[in-house]
Amino acid sequence: MKITFFDTKPYDRASFEHIGADRGFAFKFYESRLTLDTVELAKGADSVCVFVNDTVDAPVIDRLYELGVRSIALRCAGYNNVDIAHCFGKLHVFHVPAYSPYAVAEHAMAMLLTSVRRIHKAYIRTRDFNFSLNNLTGFDLHGKTVGVVGTGRIGRAFMDICRGFGMKILAYDMYPNAELGDIYVPLEQLFRQSDIISFHCPLTKKSYHMVNADSIAQMKKGVMLVNTSRGALIDAEALLEGIKARRIGGACLDVYEEEADIFFQDYSGHILSDDVLARLISMPNVIVTSHQAFLTEEALNNIAETTLQNLEQFTANGWCDNELCYRCGNIEQCRKARNKKCF
Ligand code: NAI
Repeated sequence: MKITFFDTKPYDRASFEHIGADRGFAFKFYESRLTLDTVELAKGADSVCVFVNDTVDAPVIDRLYELGVRSIALRCAGYNNVDIAHCFGKLHVFHVPAYSPYAVAEHAMAMLLTSVRRIHKAYIRTRDFNFSLNNLTGFDLHGKTVGVVGTGRIGRAFMDICRGFGMKILAYDMYPNAELGDIYVPLEQLFRQSDIISFHCPLTKKSYHMVNADSIAQMKKGVMLVNTSRGALIDAEALLEGIKARRIGGACLDVYEEEADIFFQDYSGHILSDDVLARLISMPNVIVTSHQAFLTEEALNNIAETTLQNLEQFTANGWCDNELCYRCGNIEQCRKARNKKCF
């Protein structure tokens, strides 16, 4: 089976070559993102393997189909960049629903601790032999209330970590999980009562800009926001205004609304044209990592293994457990109803 990879980095290549050795795959790796301009690179491929910032919209899907490609293997969980409905009848789409929720949850906590204890400032100071502690005062996480938005795999792993720190938990989910006990509150209450808010829900029409000027106004003064989910959950301009107005005490951002043309690239020595991002990064209480939360060895190997298993299962049976739903969006329910095969 011939697979063309888009938006690949050396670490992707290493994990797929290691995990995919002697399994009958022929890989072609391209650094370019998939767009209408680069789609011709998929000529001759049976499947394309894409990541979070590849563009898989209707024109790209139509051209992939004309080129003979028959499936899209997402090497990530989120699929907001794929026009799933348009794929129906043309391209089968698989994703990797879970590869290491711990990788993302631990990164969220790493960013939170870094910010709260000013580690990013202390690291730079001591490298310069500046051993002053002025302006490095943090606060205890113990006893603080953390609001967790989205209590799926990553949200649950993050809550477990927070419990270990002695934090109180409030949660909001559109589909509360009864097994998690008495932690759920309405979103407005979570916004009002949390000292820290961490986002672990997918980007959908409902969750788009859930952090905006209005919701920021409801939050506690000095609230810390942690976003390792998708950038567009937060209206970045409203966040910047909230920080400038001293309403938001800190922001830990692993994702950014306009990250597609910026993250994963080396722009050092260049002028950053995104003023909002540049201003956010200039703030002493903002930490930005460039969609790095998933990046552990365990996660990379799991991603490669599941992506290849998806393709193998589909080739062998004509269906795949991790095929996305093209219609209702409710994957679990739909899988039962459709009796494995979608088209
Ligand atoms: P999951 O599917 O296990 O859990 C998502 C939860 O969010 C579900 O419980 C769902 O009911 C809930 N939800 C859906 N819409 C909601 C809404 N509007 N408001 C509140 N809750 C809502 O997903 P998982 O594995 O926990 O991943 C969560 C998100 O993390 C992914 O959608 C993805 O965007 C992001 N992610 C980020 C990574 C990174 O490297 N920064 C890596 C992997 C995932």
